[in-house]
Amino acid sequence: MKHVRLFLLVAAAVLAAGCCRSPRLTSPDGAIEVVFTINESGCPQYSVLKADKQVIAPSRLGFEDHTYKIVSTSRDSRDETWTQVWGEESTARNHYNELCVSLRDEEGGLLDIRLRAFDDGIAFRYEFPGEGEIRLYREQTEYRFAQIPQAWSLPWRTPYYEGLWTKAALDATADTLCSPITLEFPDGTYGFLHEANLTDWAAQNFYYADGALRTYLTPWANGTSVYVKRGETNSSWRMLILADDINALATSRLMLNLNEPCKLTDTSWIRPMKFIGIWWAIHLDHYTWCYRLLDSKGKVVGLSPNHGATTENMKRYIDFAAYHGFGGVLAEGWNEGWDGDWTSNLASFTTPTPDFDIEYLSDYARQRGVQIIGHHETGGNISNYEEQMDSAFAYYDRYGIHNVKTGYVHAKLEGKEWHKSQYGVRHFRHVIETAAAHHVCIDNHECVMPTGLQRTYPNLMTGEGVRGQEWDAWSTDGGSPAEHLCVLPFTRVMAGPVDFTPGTFDFSNPIHPQTRVHSTLARQLAAFVVIYSPLQMASDMPESYLKHPDAFRFVEQVPCDWQRTRIVDAKIGDYVVTARQDKNSDEWYIGAITDEQQRDITLPLDFLSPGKQYVAQIYADAPDADWQDNPYAISISSQEVDSNTTLTLHLAAAGGAAIRIF
Ligand code: NOJ
Repeated sequence: MKHVRLFLLVAAAVLAAGCCRSPRLTSPDGAIEVVFTINESGCPQYSVLKADKQVIAPSRLGFEDHTYKIVSTSRDSRDETWTQVWGEESTARNHYNELCVSLRDEEGGLLDIRLRAFDDGIAFRYEFPGEGEIRLYREQTEYRFAQIPQAWSLPWRTPYYEGLWTKAALDATADTLCSPITLEFPDGTYGFLHEANLTDWAAQNFYYADGALRTYLTPWANGTSVYVKRGETNSSWRMLILADDINALATSRLMLNLNEPCKLTDTSWIRPMKFIGIWWAIHLDHYTWCYRLLDSKGKVVGLSPNHGATTENMKRYIDFAAYHGFGGVLAEGWNEGWDGDWTSNLASFTTPTPDFDIEYLSDYARQRGVQIIGHHETGGNISNYEEQMDSAFAYYDRYGIHNVKTGYVHAKLEGKEWHKSQYGVRHFRHVIETAAAHHVCIDNHECVMPTGLQRTYPNLMTGEGVRGQEWDAWSTDGGSPAEHLCVLPFTRVMAGPVDFTPGTFDFSNPIHPQTRVHSTLARQLAAFVVIYSPLQMASDMPESYLKHPDAFRFVEQVPCDWQRTRIVDAKIGDYVVTARQDKNSDEWYIGAITDEQQRDITLPLDFLSPGKQYVAQIYADAPDADWQDNPYAISISSQEVDSNTTLTLHLAAAGGAAIRIF
């Protein structure tokens, strides 16, 4: 009798709260199920099933060591298709069911956990109702995978995420790891664990301990993880894509869907484009960033004999860009502040060096239909930059400069805060919003890992956060292995567009002869399709491109804004075959790349419109091509194709193929 009374009391309490003890949430197609519970110790937990198989066993949620009770639950759902300003597809479908569980902790503090189930994965975030400020030190979110996956990851301290991703069983990863992590499950399916809409929060990291992957938030220098304003601050969405195959993994738009719709009323000034720049030549030490030469005490002892960003050089690059259809030319080292140690610089963002006539050059570029791409290297000196930021963007706006590459080369911002701390996240958002007010698009180098903010601010066009091709100019380890490019589309690029800078046409490296791009020429073309960026830099110098005019045709023609994307075939780290349809025409472009192993691939063109005849222009490794001894050997051919055609392509070691179908 006592038990029955107790049961009735509990049932009444739960009903009064308008919820049950284990609310469940299913994806629109019913395949994915999330179960929320509070365990006997008062700890909130969730578990995930897909097709009735457990993917995540009950795993902890919440903060510090709080215990919680459910106060209420509410539900929502959405099915909308939204148009991308630019992207890998023209539109994205955002279709989910939502459950919000409102909790109260033992001290009366409120916490809402909002969960969403999509057909391609799940997500949840923390919201903090009420008033007042709190500091959080420890997020308890964990992921207890039912089958231990293989994980592609990067250690969390990797400077600016510029490292080589490695694969290991998740439970064998000893380090703390950056977000994202890409997962290969034993049953052949894939997962992508990341965060979306990182706003006024700290970037998450992960470590594996006691059978679960746990969360570690990047702290402030004072040890706080996040400062929360109740009623305002939300965590970023913790998200897990679950994909049955590699195409479903790479084309999931779950991260973008978890971001807010576009906040900019006018986006007509935002234009995807390819660009070149006074850049690779600086990384190869042909030119310098600095205008003056200083001695060890900082005294000016002369002028650099080969300063890169001069009026004369810029004119030459602008002419080349105009003639070959590039939208812009980047100028690095154009402003005062690069002399001496520029990594802790006190740059002026409104003062060009005396040999860079910005007024003349901006007029000249405008007449030639080319834009100057601006550059703000801050050296991580945030206070110096924030003081000037508004006037710096206004200055560029005045000269018709609407794309700016920003840089933060210093281990810590202001010498003490991590780039991916809440401090850094706040700064980067401030830059995006200020730039938008001046109609400027951002290419964010030394960034925090992207989380899909480009849906809300499409002026955030691309970023680094990658061991890009510049490492193949000066890295003392000889350059990135060919595998690297076969990993990126499923790791870093899944988080957002990447300024990887493909397009090396001259593999010689006089200053570091042991270092080079591990690639054939055909693979450099393919990279323009495989690596997505709506601001896509062709990295090499005009003189290098002029040496291979036939191959260069592909670089001139390949778009960087797409209506459709499909991974035709891939194995992470081994090879990738990507097909994309141009946003503004019926043309398709295909990029195929391989790692150090040469291989033959078959490429069914079943994505072409049935019944339509096309011509395929194929830029493939010649039979004797080899990245080390014969990298320039390329065979360029044309053939008629239709949706029934299957092409076979031979990819040399570190080779590739690029195809234009029209
Ligand atoms: C590092 C960036 O990655 C590179 O692209 C740039 O040229 C230098 N910083 C200077 O800003």
